[in-house]
Amino acid sequence: MSIDITVGQVVSGLEIGPVAHGGHFVARHEGRVIFVRHALTGELVDVRVTEVSKRFARADVVAVHRASPHRVTPPCPIAGRCGGCDFQHVEAGHSRELKRQVVAELLGHLAGYDFTGDVLEVQPAPLGWRRRMRYHLDDAGRAGLRGHRSEDLVLLPVGGCRIADPGIAVPPADAGRPDGELLAVAGETPLFVAPGPSGTTVVETVGERTFRVALDGFWQAHAAAPTVLTDAVIEGLAPTPGEVAFDLFCGVGLFAGALADAGAQVWGIEGDRRAVELARGNVPGANFAAGDVARRLGGLPSRADLVVLDPPRAGAGSGVLAAVASRRPRRIAYVACDPAALGRDLRTAEELGYVPVSVTAHDLFPLTHHVECVAILAPR
Ligand SMILES: C[S@@+](CC[C@H](N)C(=O)[O-])C[C@H]1O[C@@H](n2cnc3c(N)ncnc32)[C@H](O)[C@@H]1O
Repeated sequence: MSIDITVGQVVSGLEIGPVAHGGHFVARHEGRVIFVRHALTGELVDVRVTEVSKRFARADVVAVHRASPHRVTPPCPIAGRCGGCDFQHVEAGHSRELKRQVVAELLGHLAGYDFTGDVLEVQPAPLGWRRRMRYHLDDAGRAGLRGHRSEDLVLLPVGGCRIADPGIAVPPADAGRPDGELLAVAGETPLFVAPGPSGTTVVETVGERTFRVALDGFWQAHAAAPTVLTDAVIEGLAPTPGEVAFDLFCGVGLFAGALADAGAQVWGIEGDRRAVELARGNVPGANFAAGDVARRLGGLPSRADLVVLDPPRAGAGSGVLAAVASRRPRRIAYVACDPAALGRDLRTAEELGYVPVSVTAHDLFPLTHHVECVAILAPR
């Protein structure tokens, strides 16, 4: 069915329904679905249409006539324009409830799994949690962030980015080239560096371990994420000395380090070659291979007791899951930044004989719709 509304059009008096994946709320206009940002269930709002496709439209709230009791004044003056935080208008505790609803809906619908937990609060929250930032500079060298689904630059407000670690919330003037980018990494001495082939690395500490990470390489964004996720994985896997463990999509070896500390013999695979080189230095006792997990898995031992999967948003996929299941591990820990991908992969895992023992959800992206889940799977 084609939709006869157009981008830029204001639709008035829209009743807002349930939250959907991606931080949108579902509304209907003349029988058509509109996914609305910056709304809340039960509200009566006016929206401006931002995108129209054959099956649905997207829109953003421009006026609220009947506000939800969970609506708050956003802590950041550029909320709504900056693409970074889409739940700034939601009271923090209620934002976790919304994420719980999304996780429960997706895992139920896609995998038939009954998620009964809560989305757990993680400190620091809801402000000052982001350890890494990528700022964009305008032609006068002023720092800002990109708008939602756009190249538009939204300049930082006075006081800087509210979700960034306070040490990197306000980039120093003249830190980068006009029209360029600036990477910021929190630490005792905050770093602000233009991206490029500098080879600069930083040291991150997790418990007793240190990890060297490329300045522009992957590291968990929330200050507490490495500890929270490592604890969840190790508690779920309960590794014992001598067990064979795989860390797939291993980055610089975060989970490999924890598995090695528990006495496991660890194999890791990661697509970013620089991260693999760093992982070898970070976890010297483990074996690391660089390349696509699906291709390199065949080179790992044919037996594994434990497997950690921490794929990008698209998920691990059926080929990787089949290769993992063929090792007959006694436990799999699946770390997921997208509950929809997790739901699809849990369904596939069940077909391969693996079912969830537990799923925990962690609020590692406060004031945004994002949520991180850790599923522990065992043979049925
Ligand atoms: C969510 S990150 C997890 C990294 C690491 N486990 C950590 O917590 O620091 C996903 C990682 O998968 C890597 N990656 C993405 N697609 C890949 C693929 N097809 N094969 C191998 N690695 C891949 C990325 O480079 C990234 O380091």
